[in-house]
Amino acid sequence: MSSTLAHKSTLTLLFSALLLSSPLPSLSSDPDPLQDFCIADLQAPVSMNGFPCKPASNVTSNDFFFDGLAREGDTYNSNGSSVVYGNVLAFPALNTLGISMNRVDIATDGLNAPHSHPRATEVGIVAQGKLLVGMISTSNVLYSKNLTAGEMFVVPRGLVHFQMNVGEESALIYTAFNSHLPGTVFVSSNLFGSRPSLPDDVLMKAFQVNKTVIDQINSKFG
Ligand code: GLV
Ligand code: MN
Repeated sequence: MSSTLAHKSTLTLLFSALLLSSPLPSLSSDPDPLQDFCIADLQAPVSMNGFPCKPASNVTSNDFFFDGLAREGDTYNSNGSSVVYGNVLAFPALNTLGISMNRVDIATDGLNAPHSHPRATEVGIVAQGKLLVGMISTSNVLYSKNLTAGEMFVVPRGLVHFQMNVGEESALIYTAFNSHLPGTVFVSSNLFGSRPSLPDDVLMKAFQVNKTVIDQINSKFG
C-alpha cells in the first residue's frame, strides 16, 4: 500500500471512530439545546421538530416547576396501573432539554403493560413495593428481575418492557428518559386498538389464530 493510501485509510478509520464516539446530534437522543431554556408554546400555530419557545419576557419562576408527579395516579382500571407523564406536553420547560420523567403507580396484582419508547432509553427506581420488571431484546430474550424499594433498572431505547406488582402492597416507580417526549407504544392497544383497525387477515396471520380469537381480543381494545 502506498504511504498516501495508508494515510487516507488511517484518516478514514479515525474519522469513523470519532463519529461513533462523539455526541453529535444525529447520534444522541434529543438534539442539544441552542439556548438556556425554551419553554414550549404548546399552542403555537407553527409545527416543527419540537416546540417553539414562548417569549423569554413571559417566562416566570413557575415555568420551571411541576407538581404533576406528586399525586398518586388512578389505578382503578383493567390493568390496575397508572402512568402520570412528566413530559414536555405536561411540563413545557422540558422543551429541547432531552429529559423527562414519569410516575407509575401499580395496584396489587396490577401491570404496567408491555410497551416501548421509540425515542428514549428509560431508567427507573422503585420507590415502594415489589415488582417483576422485565424487558425483551430484539433477539426475543427476556431479561427480568424482582425489585424492591431503592432498586433501579434500565431499558435501552425501543425495547419492549413491563412492570408487574408481585407484592402485597401498591407499588410506585419513578422513571426518567433521555427525551423530552419519549413516546409510548403499548403493544396490545397498538395492534388491537388502532384507528382505523388493522385488517383481521393481518392479525390472524401474525398471531396464527382464527377470527374468533381476533374478535375476542379486539373487543377489549375497540
Ligand atoms: C415505565 O415503564 C414508564 O414508561 O414510565
Ligand atoms: Mn416505559
